[in-house]
Amino acid sequence: MPAGPDSPLADAARLLAGARRGVAFTGAGVSAESGITTFRGEGGLWTKYDPVQTASLAGFLADPAVYWRVSRDRWQTYRRAEPNPAHLALAALEASGHLTAIVTQNTDGLHRRAGSRHIVELHGEGGRVRCLSCGSEEPRAEVQARLSSELPPLCRRCGGRHLKPTVVFFGEGLPAAALSAAIELAGTCDLLLIVGSSLTVNPAAMLPDLALRRGVPVLIVNPEPTPLDSRADAVLSGPAGLILPELMRLVTASGDSSPVL
Ligand code: OAD
Repeated sequence: MPAGPDSPLADAARLLAGARRGVAFTGAGVSAESGITTFRGEGGLWTKYDPVQTASLAGFLADPAVYWRVSRDRWQTYRRAEPNPAHLALAALEASGHLTAIVTQNTDGLHRRAGSRHIVELHGEGGRVRCLSCGSEEPRAEVQARLSSELPPLCRRCGGRHLKPTVVFFGEGLPAAALSAAIELAGTCDLLLIVGSSLTVNPAAMLPDLALRRGVPVLIVNPEPTPLDSRADAVLSGPAGLILPELMRLVTASGDSSPVL
């Protein structure tokens, strides 16, 4: 993407350089360049699988094996994935004081591994698995290890067949603490940087509206159009792994408007 003085990239860098309480809001697209397939958009997971069967509470209760068949392979991909330059740039923008937090819809843990510190995980984190019958929990890695011979996996304590990872499915509420932290951040930030989200899944997708209604700058990084493009202050069209490092470089180069830590 060209970075002339009047380009969207230059505009975005100026706005970000002036932010004191910037917040990033990320979706699956930020991890696309780590090899993790997005849900929507070109080649997305939901073009191959039905989200109601594979990621809703109702579908899971009806037949947990359908979920586990898809999740078994996706978990392997998560385990192999490394943070990409987009995750690293977001962590660096937090370290340099331009961002104060990341609100993410992702459950892959890559923001943490990239070094981001203040992370709000709206859709949970997939490291543990809970039995919906007796409530006992075990690490996902242990359940994963028996998936080749046991599908769906069974609870080691009660034999129940509804072992569910601690991620949010369609039809479930978001973790209350994470949702209220995200609302607080979107309602008080002085800039919102949206990266790699189709902005179609509520309630997460309603958060940007809290920033837009207060008139704070909203920046969007995505190779495909989003429903908020017409209301954003800058739309940076392209892969986050290319755009965010360049944005960070321009913000850093802008020097004297950087926040004092
Ligand atoms: P989506 O899969 O809906 O959207 C991903 C977005 O990332 C799309 O708009 C793509 O165009 C964009 N994208 C693709 N490659 C990119 C790249 N290299 N850089 C930047 N953007 C890129 O993901 P989310 O908006 O996160 O929930 O989806 C929200 C929720 O829907 C997920 O958390 C998940 C899903 O179903 C549940 O499973 C409950």
